[in-house]
Amino acid sequence: MKILILGIDGFVGWTLALHLANKGHKVSGVDNFNRRKWVKSMQSQSVTPIPSMEDRLNVFFKHFGYRLNFYHINVINPLLLSDIFKKEKPDCIVHFAEQPSAAYSMKSVKSCLETYKNNILGTLSVLWNVKKHCPKAHILHAGTMGVYSYGLPFTPEGDFEIEIDNKKLTIPYPKLGGSFYHCTKSCDAINLEFGSKVWNLKITDVHQGIIYGIRSEEMNDDNLLTRLDIDESFGTVVHRFVAQAVLKMPLTLYGKGYQKRGFIPLSDAVQCFTLLLENPPKQGEYRVVNQFENVYTITHVANKVIQIANEFGIHVGKSNIKNPRVELEDNYWYNPIHRELKRLGYRPSTTLEKEIRYLFKIMMKFKYRIKREVLIPRISWK
Ligand SMILES: NC(=O)c1ccc[n+]([C@@H]2O[C@H](COP(=O)([O-])OP(=O)(O)OC[C@H]3O[C@@H](n4cnc5c(N)ncnc54)[C@H](O)[C@@H]3O)[C@@H](O)[C@H]2O)c1
Repeated sequence: MKILILGIDGFVGWTLALHLANKGHKVSGVDNFNRRKWVKSMQSQSVTPIPSMEDRLNVFFKHFGYRLNFYHINVINPLLLSDIFKKEKPDCIVHFAEQPSAAYSMKSVKSCLETYKNNILGTLSVLWNVKKHCPKAHILHAGTMGVYSYGLPFTPEGDFEIEIDNKKLTIPYPKLGGSFYHCTKSCDAINLEFGSKVWNLKITDVHQGIIYGIRSEEMNDDNLLTRLDIDESFGTVVHRFVAQAVLKMPLTLYGKGYQKRGFIPLSDAVQCFTLLLENPPKQGEYRVVNQFENVYTITHVANKVIQIANEFGIHVGKSNIKNPRVELEDNYWYNPIHRELKRLGYRPSTTLEKEIRYLFKIMMKFKYRIKREVLIPRISWK
C-alpha cells in the first residue's frame, strides 16, 4: 500500500514508517518539525540523539532500498497539502501531525491557542483534501483515550447504547476532555465523524492510550532510533520515571498517585496501527478503536521502575508531590473496553518490565543528554 504519514518525524510516526517499510509498504511523509521546536522551548532535548531529516532519509535508504519522499510543510496549509496528495495518491493517510501534550496545552494562552490552531485546522485540512483528491483513501487518525475523560464509571469503545421510551439508540459517547489538548481531540472526533458521513469517507479514529518504550524490531541501528522525550510536556510518565531513576532522583508522583491510565508499548502500538491500516473500515464508516494493552495506576508504574532500577544497582524512592494538574487522583473503577484490535488479531508481544529494562539501558547510554531541571514539573493547570 502507499501510505502517507503526516508527522513522520515524531515518536510514533518514525517508528511506524520503519515498520511499514519493513513490511513492504511504500511510505512517504510530511513534517514541519514542530515537535523538535516545542521540546526545545521546554529547554529539553530527546534523550536519543535525533539526526537531521536528511540524515534520517539516508539511513532509511540504506536499510530499505528506496528514497522516502519527504515534504517539509505545515499540514494546516490546505494548498500545500493538496499538492502532496495529488502527487502521492496515497491509499492511506496516517494523521499524527498534532500537538500531542496535555501539559503544553495548559501552559499559557499562547500554547493553548497554538494547540487548537494546529490540531483542529490540521484535521480539517486533511479531511477536505481527502474528499477532493483521494476519497477512497483510508484516514487513520490518532486521538486519545482522554476524550472519554477519566472520571466516568463506564468507558465504551466509541458508541454506546441507551434506551429512551423503550427505544434503543446507539449514540457516540459524549466527548469530554481532561485538558485543552484532549478537547482538541474531541473536536477532531466530531469533525472526522461528520466528514465521513457527509463525504462517504473511511476513517479510523484511534483513541490512543499512553505509549511507552523505545524498542522495535526495525530500530537496530542507533541512527534509526526514534525520539525519547522526558520533559514535563512531551515526556510520558514511564520515560520520566526511568530518567529520574537514572539521575538517582526520587520519582515524582502527582498527588495521591492512584490515577489509572491505559498503557501500550511502542512496538505494540505500531503493531496495532499496522493492523488497522491493513484492515480498513468500509467506505463511509467512522470506526473508533481504543488502543491500549493494560490499565495501571501511576504508583504501579513507579514501583516497577524502582524494582527494575535495583537490578541496575540504582536505589531510588518515590515522592508524592502537589499535583500540578487538575484531575481525579483515584479513579479506581476505570476499566475501559478494548475489543476491536483483539478481534483484528492484535496480540501483545512484550511486557511493562521488559520495556522498562530496555529504557534503562538506553537512558544510561545517553545519560549525558538528560537535563535534571526538566524532570521537575513547573506547569500548573490552575
Ligand atoms: N505518544 C503517546 O503516548 C500518545 C498518546 C495518545 C495520543 N497520541 C497521539 O498520537 C500522535 C503521535 O504522537 P507522538 O507521540 O508521535 O507525537 P509527536 O509530537 O512525536 O509526533 C507528531 C509529529 O507531527 C509533527 N507535526 C505537528 N504539527 C504539525 C503540523 N501542523 N504540520 C506538520 N507536522 C506537524 C511534529 O513535528 C511531530 O514530528 C499525536 O497526534 C498524539 O496526540 C500519542
